[in-house]
Amino acid sequence: MDTIRESVRAKYAETAIRLSQGGACCDASCCGGSDAVSGPIGAEAYSTAEIADLGLSLGASLGCGNPTMLAQLHAGEVVLDLGSGAGLDVLLSAGRVSPGGHAYGIDMTDEMLALANENKARAGVENATFLKGTLEAIPLAPRSVDVVISNCVINLAADKAAVLKEAFRVLKPGGRLAVSDMVEIEPLPIEVKSALDAWAGCVAGTIPVEAYRAAVLGAGFTEVEVEVTHTFGPGEAGLPAGSGKIASAYIRAAKP
Ligand SMILES: C[S@@+](CC[C@H](N)C(=O)[O-])C[C@H]1O[C@@H](n2cnc3c(N)ncnc32)[C@H](O)[C@@H]1O
Repeated sequence: MDTIRESVRAKYAETAIRLSQGGACCDASCCGGSDAVSGPIGAEAYSTAEIADLGLSLGASLGCGNPTMLAQLHAGEVVLDLGSGAGLDVLLSAGRVSPGGHAYGIDMTDEMLALANENKARAGVENATFLKGTLEAIPLAPRSVDVVISNCVINLAADKAAVLKEAFRVLKPGGRLAVSDMVEIEPLPIEVKSALDAWAGCVAGTIPVEAYRAAVLGAGFTEVEVEVTHTFGPGEAGLPAGSGKIASAYIRAAKP
């Protein structure tokens, strides 16, 4: 499990350095990067005007959807983004929960945290904080967050149940989970599943929709909804020829 996490960390450290030097994400093995779509998967879910207002571009997203729209955030709320990367969803959320609210991002990769803090300074956002930590041990108190969002990250965790339990722990009763992620639609061959590159590229760590739903329910959430938004076959989204199919999906749930 630590090997997977270390290979994911190394991959996103490299990506952060490339982005901070003005390079583009992504090659085919990076979440959100694919020859099949122009820009990140789910780029159309973002308002380019809103991103431009922050002085950023869609290049700052390594996601596969827009959980900030999914969650319908309100002023005064506390939001936590699991695996915040370059910080785009945190900075957008900070605007949506203002005045009075706060947006946190958590990420394990120092280079991504540095990039997120640069983007925060460029955007002039004050009610956002990027924390170093792992999703399996979130450095926040129980019942301290109104909404947990995440964009194309939970598939990267070897122990998805542990991540979802942590999300449940930090949410207040009545809190919401709004996640954009990749899921498996048709089984992937074992060679793909066991390749660390494919894991770090949001392919090999995907699980079937029903397994995802079961993990969310198993963490204690209710009102679980999984909506598949776009399916990718071999040759798309970093999938090698002859492999199965994966898809981007929105997952919503509530803490009773
Ligand atoms: C595919 S990128 C997505 C970044 C961001 N959510 C976005 O949409 O642009 C995955 C990010 O999650 C972080 N990450 C992956 N697994 C993690 C874990 N177990 N704990 C903390 N951070 C993790 C990586 O460092 C990376 O920045």
